[in-house]
Amino acid sequence: MQKEHSGNPENSGALLIHRRRLVLAGAVAPCAFTSSAAAQKSAPYVTPNEDLMQEHGLVGRVILIYGRAIELLNANQSIDLAHVGQAAQIIARVIHGHHEVEEEKIVFPALEKANLLKNLIATLRGQHSAARAITATIGNNANQAGARDASRRRELIAAMQNFRNMYEPHGAYEDTIVYPAFRQAVGPEEYMRLAEQFAQNERRMNGDKGIQESAAALGKIETALGIELARYTRQMESPVDPASAGSKRQ
Ligand SMILES: [Fe+2]
Ligand SMILES: [Fe+2]
Repeated sequence: MQKEHSGNPENSGALLIHRRRLVLAGAVAPCAFTSSAAAQKSAPYVTPNEDLMQEHGLVGRVILIYGRAIELLNANQSIDLAHVGQAAQIIARVIHGHHEVEEEKIVFPALEKANLLKNLIATLRGQHSAARAITATIGNNANQAGARDASRRRELIAAMQNFRNMYEPHGAYEDTIVYPAFRQAVGPEEYMRLAEQFAQNERRMNGDKGIQESAAALGKIETALGIELARYTRQMESPVDPASAGSKRQ
């Protein structure tokens, strides 16, 4: 195994998660005391919310790529914009073409039917539509012709920044408000039935490769752009006393 903290997921094969799903009829509840053979049979499954949140992880990594691209473009450093175009294609296919379809056709309607989070869902739907236009703008300009034209570079930078500004809070609100409410609204049986439906949707999009293929593709882009997770570690210059960290300043 390679470096543990590499930004490239290809280097952490042991960390790859098999997105095996629960088939309701064969489900065995996870238990700390099962034998290893039984544990094998009741291998981890991916619930709808876990599935959606893993896809938000892909969005976070594309936001990282966009951030690095903005940094390089603003500093007039060389960058192969084809990498940015590839990241935008992953967003278009996996997020706009799959993840948001599940949200719009399954998650949001379940909440709307229960008369929950009406205003928030309207905002999130509007942001999906705005983001599709932003991704199209990124795709149109993230190429050699876009790199040569100053106004197209500005448009590209603005689009990537807009995507970042909108989708960081978008995902955070979904993770912490919408998905927990969705799980509650549909109830345990329907939730587990939906686990299998989400698995089928994903197989239709990705075959058996799950999100691993997209994560690996993003890892290659990150490597090409010099992104390494450790590079984003930040420390306070003088250590903060934990006892006083939460207290009010005088
Ligand atoms: Fe969304
Ligand atoms: Fe989402």
